Amino acid sequence: MQQKKQEFTYTVYSSANELPERYAWLLNEAREVTDQAYAPYSRFQVGAMALLANGEVVAGSNQENASFPVGLCAERVLLSAATSLYPNVAIEAIAISYFNNNGESNRPISPCGICRQSLQEFEQRRKHPIKLILGGMEGEVIVIESAGSLLPLSFTSENLL
Ligand code: THU
Repeated sequence: MQQKKQEFTYTVYSSANELPERYAWLLNEAREVTDQAYAPYSRFQVGAMALLANGEVVAGSNQENASFPVGLCAERVLLSAATSLYPNVAIEAIAISYFNNNGESNRPISPCGICRQSLQEFEQRRKHPIKLILGGMEGEVIVIESAGSLLPLSFTSENLL
């Protein structure tokens, strides 16, 4: 019998003002992109903005549907847009923010389980880690060096071989 431990390190900034300038800029863009969300059911508007390896930026926001399971999270809308607009280009970083019509937006949210799976495989396909910058409209910001670290022991394409 053997016990194993998997850990990851992340950085917590007390506010966006402490972030390196280009990440503060990206987070601000994600905050603005919350306006593009279609979230009449949850009233929880998520905005995501990616910085690509070619210097371009791509936005995503959550798009809900009256048939609730049809709705898409901001992260997967973003990944689809990025790969359609710029096939084969790696993503350097994604900032994720939200506007909560039901309450506060003063702490980071992190991607749901399905989005973690999608982000992990996008990293794998492009052979490049995606840095996550997570923050609300105000308050602490978390930076995670690789989205895949949010999904330990994940099911990957290698399991199908
Ligand atoms: N949502 C996202 O877009 N990204 C996340 O990281 C968490 C949740 C969306 C899904 C749904 O439209 C709404 O937020 C409430 O769950």
